[in-house]
Amino acid sequence: MKLLPQRRLTRKQRGSSALLIDPVIKEIRISGFRNTRKVTCPYCQSVLSVSLVPHMKKTHSKEWAQWTDAMLRLYNKTNDLKHVMREFSNNKGQLLFTWAVVDNEVKRKLETEGVAIQIRQKSGVTRWDPTADEYEKFKTTIWDVPRRGSWGVHQSSYRGNWAPQIPRAIIEYYSQAGDLILDPFVGGGTTLLEAWVLGRNAIGFDISQFALEVTGSRLRELDLRANKESLFGLPNVSVEVRNGDARILAGIQDSSVDLICTHPPYGNALQYSHGEPNDLSRVRDPGAFMDEIEKVGNRFFEVLRPGGFCAILIGDLRRDGRLHTFGFETVERFRRQGFLVEDIIIKTQNQDRSTEFWFKSDNLRLRLKHEYLLVFRKPLNGNAVRSVSPVTRLERKNHPSATKKTKSVEGQKAKSHPRRKPR
Ligand SMILES: C[S@@+](CC[C@H](N)C(=O)[O-])C[C@H]1O[C@@H](n2cnc3c(N)ncnc32)[C@H](O)[C@@H]1O
Repeated sequence: MKLLPQRRLTRKQRGSSALLIDPVIKEIRISGFRNTRKVTCPYCQSVLSVSLVPHMKKTHSKEWAQWTDAMLRLYNKTNDLKHVMREFSNNKGQLLFTWAVVDNEVKRKLETEGVAIQIRQKSGVTRWDPTADEYEKFKTTIWDVPRRGSWGVHQSSYRGNWAPQIPRAIIEYYSQAGDLILDPFVGGGTTLLEAWVLGRNAIGFDISQFALEVTGSRLRELDLRANKESLFGLPNVSVEVRNGDARILAGIQDSSVDLICTHPPYGNALQYSHGEPNDLSRVRDPGAFMDEIEKVGNRFFEVLRPGGFCAILIGDLRRDGRLHTFGFETVERFRRQGFLVEDIIIKTQNQDRSTEFWFKSDNLRLRLKHEYLLVFRKPLNGNAVRSVSPVTRLERKNHPSATKKTKSVEGQKAKSHPRRKPR
């Protein structure tokens, strides 16, 4: 495997050890809680409802730019969004904004200002395999992961990532050593890391530059550490991450993939990029989002080999007083493409936005505590049923992602994975 070196940061980008957080932040007055929260602007004394952030961006853009520079410097030191969030608190320890604000600003700087980001490696890898407490093969269709696994180089720093127990279980149940696994929404690379240690070939795609940097860095780290620590023999398979759109999957041959193991955005519940137009988490309208998921399903059906599995984790969305049933609709839309439903697994959700300090509580609504892990199978004699206008081959060819080079980690190209015979 050929690895590209990580980008080096300039001294300015790394920041000095004395991280200058504007001292006025410590004096900010905050009263109330959640819906009733009031924050007094330290520069003009305006009293803002709930959050100071829109006001800062609009009225004090120069000071906001300084705050966001400090955010980036802190982020580069720790990669810990919650740590950065906590630094921006007043002298009573009241937080100014959530870690999502930090996440958005870091991504904005990377995507629109081209500022380099330092991806931190895990300080110590104590074990390469999950402990019995962390991971036991699931035996039913309810999967509960109370504590995310932290074996190997896994870290939780990619916002919205899934616990490594989930891709591990999917890979163990629905694939075999030497198979080709595809994660078209690869995020921070959890699936690729698990595929690699479990001896599967793997390709990941993501539309976000930040995701590609994180995944590339994690793969390099795994490779380097495995080479150093002779105790751990990393299987000799091909693993790569590419910049591209899950609806297009440029360069992937039809019927070449054994297992799709993936975790798309749930509408715009959590936004992954700052301004990337093909980012599905920027599609606000739930119906339009499902139309895009149907295109994804159409392309998945094409690239999967007959008899191959597709496991997709998706949750519903509560918005404007309505429940948008993304789980059920994904089943319907994937069926229309020709997929068979193999398993419907309920995955319990232990953390979400409602556990954040700023969340506006709505006592009349039950908190969503589950997601759906939907496992589909392509029939042995399956042909895609085109119920939507899929992305055409011409669009696919002309799409910018079709011409972009593999990002960060270059392994063998997809053509090295021959079309497989159905099992
Ligand atoms: C839920 S996250 C995946 C997290 C991943 N399972 C992990 O453990 O890190 C969804 C990812 O989909 C990506 N994404 C959004 N739209 C996309 C598209 N059209 N094609 C490919 N990736 C996309 C986002 O950038 C984000 O990284």
